[in-house]
Amino acid sequence: MTFALFATLVLAASAAIAAPQFSPPPAGLGSPLSGKRTCAIKQTLTVPANQTVLTNPTTSASFVLLGVGVQNYTCSTAGTYASIGAVADLYDLSCLSAVPAAFNAIQDQAFAVWNASKSTAVPRLGASANGCNPLMGAHYFVTSPSGTGLSPVWDFRGASAKGNPNAFVLAAKVGDLPAPTGSQDVDWLQLKNVTGGLATSIYRMNTKGGQPPASCTAGSAPISVKYTSKYWLYGSSITV
Ligand SMILES: *[C@@H]1O[C@H](CO)[C@@H](O)[C@H](O)[C@H]1NC(C)=O
Ligand SMILES: *[C@@H]1O[C@H](CO)[C@@H](O)[C@H](O)[C@H]1NC(C)=O
Ligand SMILES: *[C@@H]1O[C@H](CO)[C@@H](O)[C@H](O)[C@H]1NC(C)=O
Ligand SMILES: *[C@@H]1O[C@H](CO)[C@@H](O)[C@H](O)[C@H]1NC(C)=O
Repeated sequence: MTFALFATLVLAASAAIAAPQFSPPPAGLGSPLSGKRTCAIKQTLTVPANQTVLTNPTTSASFVLLGVGVQNYTCSTAGTYASIGAVADLYDLSCLSAVPAAFNAIQDQAFAVWNASKSTAVPRLGASANGCNPLMGAHYFVTSPSGTGLSPVWDFRGASAKGNPNAFVLAAKVGDLPAPTGSQDVDWLQLKNVTGGLATSIYRMNTKGGQPPASCTAGSAPISVKYTSKYWLYGSSITV
């Protein structure tokens, strides 16, 4: 399997998105690489043993996705980095799920290319890979409905579910596990829906990269740290 990654042009958020509940900011959505989920999902998610913060899903997955993007951090006055959200493109892995070795390695392979890239623009999977792993949508953060803090969103409205105003989910965290794969990898998470119909339950698993340096110089500029992960979505009312 080849993973030619190409830097993407940053396009303005599409005005064609119908009745957004909030303004979707992610770059480059919708053209030309959007796709559909075309295969049955052949893998199941099992959370790590010997921990209680993540619980196994109780239904079959609606979507399994590869996220390729950045985690953003700001430097606090105490000289440590604090998360200020993330932005990632989301690719369908349903067809790849029939090939366990490739499915299991995809986030590591994509990260190796992304991390080695000199570009800081979130890359697009190349055209050859895109036929198998179409772009479904984007992951990004918005101001929380309470008005304080940030909430994560998974949004298919700009790509695979154009014209469906409910094809997103804004979620809240229910469990947070340090990545079993190592301290360079962002935590594995379980989240639940707050608004939107794209999922009722979301997991971020098999993360690669994304952690900030241990310390920073107070007053230094925000940073973006490259990462990849798998995202599993359950309970979707959206078909694409
Ligand atoms: C869980 O913990 C037990 C007791 O420490 C250990 O024997 C077992 O190997 C662990 N299992 C996993 C999957 O880590
Ligand atoms: C994260 O940083 C990237 C640039 O590296 C930027 O395009 C994006 O808007 C930022 N997103 C958030 C949520 O801060
Ligand atoms: C989550 O989605 C379910 C199913 O659509 C819905 O019944 C529930 O109200 C949603 N949760 C919240 C917090 O809106
Ligand atoms: C990304 O690449 C740099 C070298 O350019 C390396 O130091 C770093 O460990 C890599 N990140 C991860 C998470 O492997």
